[in-house]
Parts: sequence; structure tokens; C-alpha cells
Amino acid sequence: MDKRKVIFDVDTGSDDAIAMMVAIQNPDRFDILGMCSVNGNRGIDYTTENTLRTVEWLGSDVPVFRGCALPYASTLDPWRRPRIPYGGANGCASGQSSIHGDLLDLPEATIKEQDKSAVMWLIETLLASEDRITLIPVGPLTNIAHALRIEPRIKEKIEEVVIMGAAYHVGNITATSEFNWWIDPEAAKIVMDSGLNITLVPLDATHSAYVKGSELREMCKSGTRAAQMMEKLVSGRIKGYGAWQPMEEEDAAPIHDALCTAYLIDPTVIDDMREVWVDVDFSGGPADGMSICDVEKRHPDKKPNCRLALHADREKFVKILADACK
Ligand code: BDR
Ligand code: CA
Repeated sequence: MDKRKVIFDVDTGSDDAIAMMVAIQNPDRFDILGMCSVNGNRGIDYTTENTLRTVEWLGSDVPVFRGCALPYASTLDPWRRPRIPYGGANGCASGQSSIHGDLLDLPEATIKEQDKSAVMWLIETLLASEDRITLIPVGPLTNIAHALRIEPRIKEKIEEVVIMGAAYHVGNITATSEFNWWIDPEAAKIVMDSGLNITLVPLDATHSAYVKGSELREMCKSGTRAAQMMEKLVSGRIKGYGAWQPMEEEDAAPIHDALCTAYLIDPTVIDDMREVWVDVDFSGGPADGMSICDVEKRHPDKKPNCRLALHADREKFVKILADACK
């Protein structure tokens, strides 16, 4: 089987950790070149440490690079909603904190981050690569946007970008917006307008791929390190979602970012995929960070800029997670 060369871009985060875990547990499918951290769920110190913890816990030797500590531009405007996780917990809706916690409940990392910024490493690695590389950004798109602005020639080396972000019909941070895009809408705009081969996995798809408590307990019976991590992190998510954003099923939670990895293992895990033009509002008003998904083709002059995942096959997703816990 051909391995895909991939780079994760993560604001780790419980679901980011599971997304990386699923890839690490599938070494026949993924050649993981690196993990880039980014500001998002928590400040960059936390997301970098959490990424190191995840990699070390799973016995992987994938290098970790520290990425951008602040969004691309949104924090420059004093009138815009504060969204700056300076060092610690961010200003997101209260329930988010129990879903991720500041530091993941894994041993403190003893491995170290690399001595190079994520953006510079991304550029150098892409330019030097003979093969095309798939990017898996599952946090705010700050690092990717900077890399594209600094060195647009990297585009030729990018096979596909599989993004967790955006939302067609739901929001999870404001009434209109999904968290990753709301944190850094200018970066989302740069990436969506880049002409890259993009698969966009928004909340609509990830919410349809929730995991039930009973399924979690079953898949974690194996007791492997992956299963132990899964048990701790996803049970925290189920508690947090129950309190903050109940799913259609009680005792269940989505694991957003892991759906991107699952899609790369089996594209049919997305059972409703459309070619769509997607844009983002970054005006600073009430719809700041909102994704505009032209599913109904109201703008025939706009060419689709991504494949938009609108729904997932929940059972296939749960099976992929269970296999990763073996
Ligand atoms: C996204 O926001 C973060 O909290 C999660 O890690 C995920 O990437 C979902 O909106
Ligand atoms: Ca994330």
C-alpha cells in the first residue's frame, strides 16, 4: 500500500490528539513527517506541550515544531472580540475548557520540540520534497497561511489539504461560527483562496460522527497505550459535551479532528461530499469567522474551491477509531 506523506498542524486539544493517534497507529498508511503546533484551543505553550505529550505517549519519534502564537491579523483590531489565548486558557465558551483542559492528562513530555519554527520548517520541507505532501490542519490555519504568503511555491508540493474547520448549518463558538475559523478568519480566507486541492471537514460532518460512551468503553478494552489515551480524552469530551453542547444522542461526543485522519484512511467515511465554493467572513461584525458555504450554487460565477464534507458514516468512523486502539 502506498504511504501518504503527511504533516499535521494541531492546536492540541483532545480531538487533535486522537487525530494524531489514529495516524500514528496506521504506519502502513501514513509517513508522518512532523507535527506543527499552533495557537487555538489553548495558547501555544500548552498546544506544543500537549503535542509532545501525545507523540511521546504513543512511542512515536515524529518531530514537533512550534508554530504561531497569535492569529494572522484578527488581534490587531481593538474592536474585535478578544480571542487571544495569551499563554493559558482562551476566551472561548465555558464548556470548551472541560472538553480539552489546559494540559492533556498524559505524563509531562520529556522529549523536546525542534529548534525551528513550524512555518519555516513547513516551507523548507515542502520545497525540498520530491513527493507531494498532504497537510492535515485541524486547528486555526495561521501556520499554513503564513507559509503560503512567505513562499507560494510550496503549493506545487502540496497534494491535498484536509482541513477541520468551518460549518454550514451550525456554530460552536458564536451563533454563526466554528471555533478554528473564528480564531483566525483571515488565515482561513488565505487558505481557501489559495487554489490548493482542499477537502474541508466542517462541524456538520463531525457532529454526525459522534462516538457513544458504550462504544468508547468497548474499543478501550484492549488497554493499549492508544486505548488508554482514547479512554481518558474521549470520556472528558463526552462529559464536556453533555454539559455544554449535547449531541442528538446522550452520552456521546464528536471527535472532530480525527475525522480528517479517518477520511484519509477510508474516503467513504464521508458519505455526503460536495464540490462547493466556501468563503469566510472576517469583517469583525456578528458573523465574524462565519463560513459561507455555497452548497446551493447561488454564486454560479464562483468556482468550487473545495470538497465539502457534509455528513459522515458514523459506524465506519467508530470502526476506524476502534482499530487504532488495538
Ligand atoms: C475544532 O475546534 C477545536 O476546539 C477542536 O480541536 C476542533 O479542531 C472544532 O470546532
Ligand atoms: Ca483542533
